[in-house]
Amino acid sequence: MSRVAIYRKAHFNAAHRLYNEDWDDAKNKEVFGVCSNANYHGHNYELEVKVVGEVDQQTGMVIDLKLLKDIIKDKIEDRYDHKNLNLDVDDFKTVNPSAENICIKIYDILREEIDDQFDLSVRLFETPRNFVEYPA
Ligand code: NI
Repeated sequence: MSRVAIYRKAHFNAAHRLYNEDWDDAKNKEVFGVCSNANYHGHNYELEVKVVGEVDQQTGMVIDLKLLKDIIKDKIEDRYDHKNLNLDVDDFKTVNPSAENICIKIYDILREEIDDQFDLSVRLFETPRNFVEYPA
């Protein structure tokens, strides 16, 4: 049986601010720099979802890309696109919306939706040059 990795790319725009409420403004500024600016800033987030599994003998496919596309659209893009991640989304009320934490959250959401027979990993690009991957 042949295992193949299949990828789907997606995109959302969102605003955030990196801030630890246990610290004063000076400490936040020291640690997060301009990313802790009080009035938030935006990113064009690019998402890469990787699903690994056996090629189904009947369909020739690992997973139906239309299904994967719809899951990502419904569960991730609609959830985060054009949102302020700190203010508009419950996911980051108490969790700093760093690329790392957003990536983990996206993985956790998708993991619930995608059958256990598939391996899953998520890459999140905050800029073209800065990106994270989970699981590592
Ligand atoms: Ni940022």
